[in-house]
Amino acid sequence: MKKQFSNYILVEHSLIKRDISVLRDRKTKPEMFRSALKRISRILAVEASKDLKLADINIKTPLENTAGYELAQEVVLVPVLRAGLGMLDGFLEVIPDAKVGHIGLQRNEKTLLPSEYYFKTPKNLKQTRVILIDPMLATGGSSSQALNFLKKKDAKDLVFVCLVAAPEGIKKLLEEHPNVKIYGAAIDRQLNIKGYILPGLGDAGDRTFGTL
Ligand code: PRP
Ligand code: URA
Repeated sequence: MKKQFSNYILVEHSLIKRDISVLRDRKTKPEMFRSALKRISRILAVEASKDLKLADINIKTPLENTAGYELAQEVVLVPVLRAGLGMLDGFLEVIPDAKVGHIGLQRNEKTLLPSEYYFKTPKNLKQTRVILIDPMLATGGSSSQALNFLKKKDAKDLVFVCLVAAPEGIKKLLEEHPNVKIYGAAIDRQLNIKGYILPGLGDAGDRTFGTL
């Protein structure tokens, strides 16, 4: 694993590299797209939950007493609708007892600014590891707004997991949310004038749900 920006942890894995290539390929149909996204999400979920707080417990094996651990903090997963939903199942396989919030954001195609259409999370986020998930970090407008909403709900232990990030978006989050760690699977070259990531994989929501 290597860091290129102080706030961005690039998760490197041969299977991720293979599956991102599947996602980038314009010929990949929604069914294959969803399964590759889910496989990558499982690996990202392992990384983003590596440092969850633990509490010591005593357990009885069938043979004797021994020391063990339980999670000492709750996890809330927050997919950004729609594309973040494609990552949710992979995360829930790794952290099955996580709760799930939802944030609905739609980027305006002309202004590139996000507008909110839905917000629902569990109430008390203060002690919780809140993992925001969205495959695309482009201008950073959507994820920055989503992080602002979560901070207003008192979330303190916040991380953001994406799949593909543009340098522009990583820098915006570093300026606006310097304490939020970002985990991702690729850093792409740049944005085009329509705010799409290059080389990217196109519109992640449309490719996940077949709405092209
Ligand atoms: C996409 C993507 C992010 C956002 C990233 O969502 O899933 O939420 O764009 O762009 P940004 O970093 O420039 O804000 P979109 O608004 O296309 O909605 P969708 O998932 O419903 O297609
Ligand atoms: N949203 C997407 O789905 N893809 C991009 O390349 C940029 C924003």
